[in-house]
Amino acid sequence: SAADRVPDHLLAWYDVAARDLPWRARPGEVADPYRVWLSEVMLQQTTVATVRPRFAQWVARWPDIASLAAADEADVMAAWAGLGYYARARNLVKAARAVVADHGGAFPRTEAALRALPGLGAYTAASVAAIAFGEQAVVVDANVERVVARLFAIETPLPAARPAIRAAAATITPRARAGDFAQAMMDLGATICTSRRPRCLLCPIRVDCRAHAEGIQERLPAKAAK
Ligand code: ADE
Repeated sequence: SAADRVPDHLLAWYDVAARDLPWRARPGEVADPYRVWLSEVMLQQTTVATVRPRFAQWVARWPDIASLAAADEADVMAAWAGLGYYARARNLVKAARAVVADHGGAFPRTEAALRALPGLGAYTAASVAAIAFGEQAVVVDANVERVVARLFAIETPLPAARPAIRAAAATITPRARAGDFAQAMMDLGATICTSRRPRCLLCPIRVDCRAHAEGIQERLPAKAAK
């Protein structure tokens, strides 16, 4: 069925095509939850190209959760300069301190427990749970939203389509390799299933894509008129 084929095809593609990003574990390594969390927060409204060097500078200065928890908040705010939306930086310090004070310095390992930390919304909690801890969490960002809307030919406009997109995403999220699956969906959305001119001929899940079958991929996801 498509529920088995989509993750199989996508993960086989990811094994050869994954982007080499500094917060990702090498094959066989486990991801560092601190690096995963930090990268996911930085990537929330900043591009991969901008985040790359900023992430490297950050982890050189604060290499782990304990060092960030002990940092001067003013230094952290200054280090965030240019990344925008400063509440994210303030919450990084708050969350680091909460992990040290309330969890003995180790990130909680479930989506639900992560969600209780300052600044960890639905997306961040799900992405850290899946990528760092392998939980079968449903990880939906704007790229994934587009891939799923096309795969299932969900024609309801955004934002009304969000619950249907999330439910459809849940049906293809595998128990095994949930973190790789989440990142494969993001890479697919960023490099192949792009909003303009998607490269369907290169797509590893084209055979299961209902939008492609109907030739409507460029129109999806639809957006409600403003
Ligand atoms: N965008 C946000 N998180 C990402 C990740 N882990 N990999 C690739 N792109 C992303």
